[in-house]
Amino acid sequence: MSKAISGFNGLAVPGPTNMPFALHRAMDVALEDHRAPDFPEFTLPLLADLKRIFRLSAGQVFVFPSSGTGGWESAIANTLSPGDRVLASVFGQFSHLWVDLCRRFGLEVDAIDVPWGEGVPLDLYEQKLRADKAHRIKAVLACHNETATGVTSDIAGVRKVLDATGHPAQLMVDGVSSIGCIEFRMDAWGVDLAVCGSQKGFMLPTGLAIVGVSEKALAARKTAKLPRCFFDFDDMIRANRDGYFPYTPATTLLRGLRASIDMLEAEGLEEIFARHHRLAGGVRRAVEAWGLALCARHPRWYSDTVSAVVVPDGFDANAVIKTAYYAYNLSLGAGLSKVAGKVFRIGHLGYLNEIMVLAALAGAEMAMLDCGIAIEAGAGVGAAVEHYSRTAKRPVSTKAA
Ligand SMILES: Cc1ncc(COP(=O)(O)O)c(C=O)c1O
Repeated sequence: MSKAISGFNGLAVPGPTNMPFALHRAMDVALEDHRAPDFPEFTLPLLADLKRIFRLSAGQVFVFPSSGTGGWESAIANTLSPGDRVLASVFGQFSHLWVDLCRRFGLEVDAIDVPWGEGVPLDLYEQKLRADKAHRIKAVLACHNETATGVTSDIAGVRKVLDATGHPAQLMVDGVSSIGCIEFRMDAWGVDLAVCGSQKGFMLPTGLAIVGVSEKALAARKTAKLPRCFFDFDDMIRANRDGYFPYTPATTLLRGLRASIDMLEAEGLEEIFARHHRLAGGVRRAVEAWGLALCARHPRWYSDTVSAVVVPDGFDANAVIKTAYYAYNLSLGAGLSKVAGKVFRIGHLGYLNEIMVLAALAGAEMAMLDCGIAIEAGAGVGAAVEHYSRTAKRPVSTKAA
């Protein structure tokens, strides 16, 4: 098969996401001296403004040249010691990988296995925390939005459980596919470490790990003994204080990040959350109209940034993904690990509108039909169109031109 070459590639994976032209332009600049005397005039406001996106008042946001995985590593390496106990839950490839990283660092992880399609089990977290009278658990991990299954968990609920049990563990949250897209509140939810990357809600290329750190987590670094060098918060704090970095920062991406924050704030976070919810609603209507199921097992788990669609028994989701790519120049997300071949994922996050989602749905429909899946042509697209027209905020002019 050869790939269709005409027209744009439909990027409907759950990250990297579509990059707005304003961000392309912001990064189309000459490389610059990261030790220039006026560099802090750019970086100090940038680092301060990032805190608003994380809804963090005290504490700090660090930006590393890295990806979300590096953000995970920075969170644990700066705040924990070898042998520390960590409570976590695994219900998809990303919650699994964070646990794996913790184990490789010598942490003792109590990882609760949850069926893929569900999220953080608050009742089990509560039981484990209540039973931990000696407070041996030093950190509670939660993947806010499991990108592999399209499941969003209740982080405010995790905070409630920590408070109800009077447990002092740090709350560490993977916000890689949620921050900047759906509601995320570091202060209000008492999140101590929030990990994000540049290639999803921030609409940038991959290359930055963006990590929000509470005052409590900043204090934890003073006694934490895990080895760290590249991700050492101390080095970052010392250099950031004057607007510099401990090593060469990704200056071009930082220019993009400036433009990204400006775009997010111009639209408004609440508006962004509402837009993601509405766009996701159209995808969910489409899946229902196709007669298919989401991997997320209950509406309370439905993610507003990614939907994992289960193909009927006897069909291969990878064939749908390949067909979409080669025949229609559409990139759908692959099923990972346990759900490989069983689901394809539609990313609906970042710089996106109804038309872009409808194009992805149309491409998915065509690919499924080509693969012999018995759906009705136009059913999903029609259901999404109906949803978008019914929920449209903009008044539609009925006057003839
Ligand atoms: C929820 C989640 N966490 C962590 C990661 C890992 O981030 P990265 O691939 O940027 O290292 C991803 C990547 O897609 C993710 O979706």
